[in-house]
Amino acid sequence: MNLNKPSVRAELKESLLARFGGPSRNVRCALAPGRVNLIGEHTDYNGGFVLPMAIARHTAVVFRPLGRPCLRVYAADMDRRGEPDDEFGLNSRIKRLRAPKRQWANYVRGVACVLKQRGIRLKGGELYIHADLPRGAGLSSSASLEVATAMALLKLAGQKMPPQDVALACQKAEHTYAGVRCGIMDQSVVTRARAGHALLLDCVSLRVQHAPIYLKNWSFAVFDTGVRHKLAASEYNKRRAECERAAKSFGVKTLRQASVAHLMKAGHRLSAGQHRRVRHVLTEDLRTAQFAAALARGDVEELGQLLYAGHASLRDDYQVSCPELDFIVKTLQRASAGPVRGACAGARMTGGGFGGSVVALVRPKKFPALRNYLARQYQRQRKRTLGGALLLEPSAGVTVVRC
Ligand code: GLA
Repeated sequence: MNLNKPSVRAELKESLLARFGGPSRNVRCALAPGRVNLIGEHTDYNGGFVLPMAIARHTAVVFRPLGRPCLRVYAADMDRRGEPDDEFGLNSRIKRLRAPKRQWANYVRGVACVLKQRGIRLKGGELYIHADLPRGAGLSSSASLEVATAMALLKLAGQKMPPQDVALACQKAEHTYAGVRCGIMDQSVVTRARAGHALLLDCVSLRVQHAPIYLKNWSFAVFDTGVRHKLAASEYNKRRAECERAAKSFGVKTLRQASVAHLMKAGHRLSAGQHRRVRHVLTEDLRTAQFAAALARGDVEELGQLLYAGHASLRDDYQVSCPELDFIVKTLQRASAGPVRGACAGARMTGGGFGGSVVALVRPKKFPALRNYLARQYQRQRKRTLGGALLLEPSAGVTVVRC
């Protein structure tokens, strides 16, 4: 289902009406994409550079005003077992839910709460949520849900906010309601992406450059491991804390200001593990700069090498990969050298790690053969089913449309 199609949005409107009843006036839809990060991994919270792009898979929040100050929310993909709608008042404190099955609702509650804190006078509404973006695949389904929700709530309130402020509010919601101290990459690309482009973001100034993607006969693709390891959130917060400690021992605010000179002077205060974390962050920024230049030149070979090098650094220095991700990267590389010759120029894990997806630069013509080969090997050697494989199209950021 392509949520960007008007006919599909008309269906979603019908679903909202079927769920909540009532008149069909004033129904709108906030459509927020997912994202894939091409390079610049675990650098956003270190004040570095990242290069993600939005993809043509979305979260749709279909919404309509309600005459009282409360939000009624239904999530079609998450409430399969006849769960009741989530309903909460806007005039009192918005509580975080504890039940594990209702965690999705915290993204909506978190965004509502942060917008209130930022002085937005929220108005009541009914929200019907549906996504064609796989969850837990490392494609930012949470940022996509947060941003779509924020845009719906702003529209209901008749207010506007600059896109980067929306991104910052959603990041805050994720910190406080989902417990992940994420950086600013995901929410920024979901709000600010441009079709046909990747987004080069400086995570200190929050300035962006839209980098056009013209790669003749090549496309980016993702392959989902189908696994999400439990430690993903806790290890994420741990890596972030390790980097903050390293920056502190260098006497700088973030690793953005750190250099080899700092390592020479204060390196003895770091453990061997911390040295590796710092090496990943410093070299990843360099790779991101090289990648952006290679993208501008259309240099596929260089882009591919940088993807492989980025993966090695995340696996060995930052230690956020897992056997399934490593297997997919290695198998794509092997396939391209023989069984599906020339199909893939490079690949690496994308997103936070510990499961999720691999991003690869592939030849679209050879993509079906590559996917089939990989799925067979994954089954045979790892006894696992490949979670899904998508050819990607660089897409636009969030939009709000009438249904
Ligand atoms: C997650 C976070 C981002 C970023 C990546 C790793 O996607 O939400 O802020 O830190 O991990 O690059």
